[in-house]
Amino acid sequence: MKKQIENRTDVEFLVHQFYSKIRADEEIGFYFNTMIKNWDAHLEKLTDFWETNLFAVKKYKGNPHAVHNEVDAGFNGQITSNEFGIWLNYWFQTLEEYFEGENVEILKRRARKMGTFLFVSMFEHRKKMAENSLE
Ligand code: HEM
Repeated sequence: MKKQIENRTDVEFLVHQFYSKIRADEEIGFYFNTMIKNWDAHLEKLTDFWETNLFAVKKYKGNPHAVHNEVDAGFNGQITSNEFGIWLNYWFQTLEEYFEGENVEILKRRARKMGTFLFVSMFEHRKKMAENSLE
């Protein structure tokens, strides 16, 4: 039986299920398995992030743009729209597998939007890095 996403416990469950798919993926799992040293802390942080995003609590404090630019730089600027596509596919899949209702649609929309901004920001960051190395 699918349920609505109503509280932190639901978000936590979603985040855990999502990352178990991500970690097992052959194409993008290694980005996460290489970078993330403390999975408990990461899952807690991402639960804070999505809870903050959905329920307007003030738990997440961070800068996802800076973090993703760093991840991209750590892998020599090789992240493409393919990686974002795979990420979003798992996000949609996990949402649909366990949940239904308005918050499912909100979380799909917000992740898609954020993915676009993160990707553009990575491109700009790469350009800046390249310009700096020419100076
Ligand atoms: C498409 C939408 C995506 C969203 C909404 C998203 C969201 C986030 C958020 C909120 C964090 C935590 C940032 C912080 O530490 O404060 C994070 C961390 C991370 N993301 Fe993403 N992400 C997306 C796509 C991707 C993709 C495509 C990759 C890699 C191919 C990626 C790799 C990572 C890694 C490795 C971390 C952990 C970095 C670290 O703690 O060292 N993300 N992501």
